[in-house]
Amino acid sequence: MEKTLIEIHDEARKEHVPIMLDDGMAFLLNYIRKHEGVRDILEVGTAVGFSAINMAKIRWDNTIDTLEINPKMYEKAIQNIKNEKLDDRIHVHLIDGAAFETNKIYDLIFIDAAKSQYRRYLEHFMKNSRIGTVFIFDNLNFHGIVDNEELSSNRSTIQMVHKIKKFREHLLNDDRFITSYYEVGDGIAVSVRKK
Ligand SMILES: C[S@@+](CC[C@H](N)C(=O)[O-])C[C@H]1O[C@@H](n2cnc3c(N)ncnc32)[C@H](O)[C@@H]1O
Repeated sequence: MEKTLIEIHDEARKEHVPIMLDDGMAFLLNYIRKHEGVRDILEVGTAVGFSAINMAKIRWDNTIDTLEINPKMYEKAIQNIKNEKLDDRIHVHLIDGAAFETNKIYDLIFIDAAKSQYRRYLEHFMKNSRIGTVFIFDNLNFHGIVDNEELSSNRSTIQMVHKIKKFREHLLNDDRFITSYYEVGDGIAVSVRKK
């Protein structure tokens, strides 16, 4: 990894910014590398811009719209992206992901924001996809709690975990997509739209 990327990564970890787990990130970047048709990307959940910067660096002509609801994260992402001179290709929007409207059609839609809203994001962004667009969802294991509820006794965590589990099942049975589920990082689903 380049020095500046390591700095963003380490600072995020130090400040407990929930950037993607390293092996999950490697998986995502590998997917983009292997699929040459992935050029226009939408990301829901920017945090400090770490994943967006990494995705942009794979191809010189990749473009990314990335959505962030937290003004502090947004400011930090803008700064990191400017420092990397990627502000012509990465556009950060300070907005609730479910409120973002555009006519753009994306090759890849990466969902890494409010876990309880995943179904909502999926339906909201269907109009910005085409046959072949891939949706990638992170955190479908939610720190291992989805498959081991005894790891948490917190009621709201358990409720969220139930929502994630339901979403995972929905995705696997949704015949608009071919979905593969990977036990990598914090649990990643790759859903390719087929109709
Ligand atoms: C897991 S972090 C994103 C990490 C980033 N993709 C990375 O790996 O570098 C999730 C981010 O989503 C943001 N978020 C939460 N709810 C959101 C929403 N409804 N719309 C947009 N962003 C949201 C949070 O503020 C947080 O910064």
